[in-house]
Amino acid sequence: MKGIILAGGSGTRLRPLTSITSKQLLPLYNKPMIFFPLETLLNAGIKDILIIVAPGNAGDFLKLLGSGKEFGCKFTYEIQDKPEGLAQAFLIGENFLGSDSATLVLGDNIFEDNFSEAITSFQSGGRVFAKEVTDPERFGVVDFDENKRAISIEEKPNQPTSNFAVTGLYIYDNTVVQKVKTLQPSPRGELEITDLNNVYLQDGSLDVAFVHGKWFDTGTFESLFEATQFVRERELAKA
Ligand code: DAU
Repeated sequence: MKGIILAGGSGTRLRPLTSITSKQLLPLYNKPMIFFPLETLLNAGIKDILIIVAPGNAGDFLKLLGSGKEFGCKFTYEIQDKPEGLAQAFLIGENFLGSDSATLVLGDNIFEDNFSEAITSFQSGGRVFAKEVTDPERFGVVDFDENKRAISIEEKPNQPTSNFAVTGLYIYDNTVVQKVKTLQPSPRGELEITDLNNVYLQDGSLDVAFVHGKWFDTGTFESLFEATQFVRERELAKA
């Protein structure tokens, strides 16, 4: 199992904070944001990690994270020239993945959960993690039938059919690269992770698990602030 951290994008919603740096380098209390998704992968035992960044701040990521030796792992870097969608990570990462499976984590997602068990028990298909939220229209939304089986996933629906958001950690088998190659860009010009999840859902190989602890997508000022508070509380509890 290899890991990918997607840390590109233009961060437009967080300007002016992101006018001079990447969103994933912004501080969450005492550490740059990207440390948290990185810890999520490391805590799950993943040691071979591709970090995908936007061209503008690539040097800053390298300076901050280096080879990975300091973290007991190995980093590979790739540049995403334009933010053409989350699923593009697997095209950029095709050579890096070789014949391995992949866990993708978004560089702006903060998880309290430990995913070791979910990753070690993974065999094939796709596995995503849902979390009940009060603002599902901001996310990919998964709907379930009465037997709690996922029946649909919709990206940022105006009228969500459930309150379950698909969070930004995804586990896929090696067919992911071929599956992404069948996707067409969405009307907003992106290869959508939701379309990829729907390919797995349609062939009956998508497992929808749940996030039990806290989860933050730091896409808004409010959620950035909440994530900072969470990290602060956790740090103070450790002291
Ligand atoms: O956080 C979970 C949500 O992430 C999911 O529920 C949605 O289904 C999924 O589409 C995504 O929604 P977002 O609105 O959060 O996506 P956003 O465009 O903000 O991108 C997420 C992160 O990935 C962000 O840190 C920027 C980075 N990114 C984004 C794109 C589109 C890239 O590195 N490259 C890209 O091409």
